[in-house]
Amino acid sequence: MFSRRRFLTAAGAAGVLAELPVRGDALEPDLMELHATVKAVQLLPPDYPKTQIWGYAGGTPGPEVRVPQGGRVQRRFVNGLPQASTVHWHGIRAANSMDGVAGLTQAPVPPGGSFDYDFTVRDAGTYWYHAHNRSAEQVARGLHGSLIVDEKAPPDIDRDVTLVLDDWLLEPDGGQLFPDFETRHDRSHAGRLGNFISTNGQSAWTQTVKRHERLRLRLINTSNARIFILALVNFEGWVMALDGMPLPAPKAVTEELLLGPGQRADLIVDVTAGEGEEAFLARIDGNRGYAQAVFPVRGVSSTSRRGTPEPLPPNPAMEVTGLETANQLRLDMAGGAMGSLRSAVLQGRKAGFRQMAEANQFWAFNGTVGMTQTPLATVARGETVRVTVSNDTAFPHAMHLHGMHFRTVHADGSMGHLRDTLLSFAGESHEIAFVADNPGDWAFHCHMLSHAASGMMTWIRVQA
Ligand code: C2O
Ligand code: CU
Repeated sequence: MFSRRRFLTAAGAAGVLAELPVRGDALEPDLMELHATVKAVQLLPPDYPKTQIWGYAGGTPGPEVRVPQGGRVQRRFVNGLPQASTVHWHGIRAANSMDGVAGLTQAPVPPGGSFDYDFTVRDAGTYWYHAHNRSAEQVARGLHGSLIVDEKAPPDIDRDVTLVLDDWLLEPDGGQLFPDFETRHDRSHAGRLGNFISTNGQSAWTQTVKRHERLRLRLINTSNARIFILALVNFEGWVMALDGMPLPAPKAVTEELLLGPGQRADLIVDVTAGEGEEAFLARIDGNRGYAQAVFPVRGVSSTSRRGTPEPLPPNPAMEVTGLETANQLRLDMAGGAMGSLRSAVLQGRKAGFRQMAEANQFWAFNGTVGMTQTPLATVARGETVRVTVSNDTAFPHAMHLHGMHFRTVHADGSMGHLRDTLLSFAGESHEIAFVADNPGDWAFHCHMLSHAASGMMTWIRVQA
């Protein structure tokens, strides 16, 4: 994602290195392994060749990590890949040392090395984990999986279904991953958009259900750049949670649902299709609809339907208060093709857009390209922070804050839902607010991973 050496050097190597957890330190003997390897899997339909991916435990997505709320996630990441890597737990409010950001919270784990992740999860909901070193390549190669934290009292549903949505850029001949993960075009435009879409690592994922059955669908967008536009067909449904965090009241799904890279949505849906019919999660692309996940209906679970579901219980300590006295920050996003950025600070020097392009860098936050030795801001623990995020580019971006969830603040002062990733379209401006209650160095970047790799990456320090 960014050069560790450059970052460490810039940050004063001694000081930062001293704080980085040391590989192999105090390994516990019986940790469950999360072993990343290169593997050929049947990603495309059976009449196509296997595709060589990088995956956890030999698959993509990797194994679902599932714990009860308040439980502990303990995994020994073992790196069987030809590149250094780390594991980031997206959306989890864990200790900074467990956040898995190479060069910021830990050193990347070299091939053959391992790292023990161990943290407690206080929030229930739908999260995910993925590689956070050279992410634009490693996530595109398949290094991700779902992380589900179960509520103490489960909601009233018949079936709990995780749907990992992914987008792959494959070579038409041979079905292998397009091997250049750093093309100028993808970096300067909308990111690495694919030509093959999967659900749970399959081209045609299906699940047989019964009429009137109530399902919980956990949707996770793990793609590098694609914004999924989703709709329900022959289901009646409600949005229950976004980015892991419950809505105060279920919101009926009456229109298309947008899911940017990194974002999640929990739905509760009732099968309204009849016996022998099919219900779908549909994906809209242009003015066509595609079946993203198919649910053939066999049998009837009950003759009548249930009413609107009860809301999921809120997660603890998520109030965003203190807006009036908040620390006010700006994040001006600029650059990319068809943008107005003329110059920016690149590696400490002013560079024209052409020079940036020569370095394969295209984007700037507040006039600076990529990671810097000093954070975007250093804030006091417990302080409320407001950030005006403005998108002065010709493309959408998906801004992800590590370590803390935020709310959008609307013009009338009301607040939007808690999120960890903000979808921002060309020309839009949003204000987000969060309470900086989690000490440490937190990455703040575009989850369109080619953008993060070409300038859209910064960090915020929350003092201990
Ligand atoms: Cu989902 Cu910085 O990542
Ligand atoms: Cu972006």
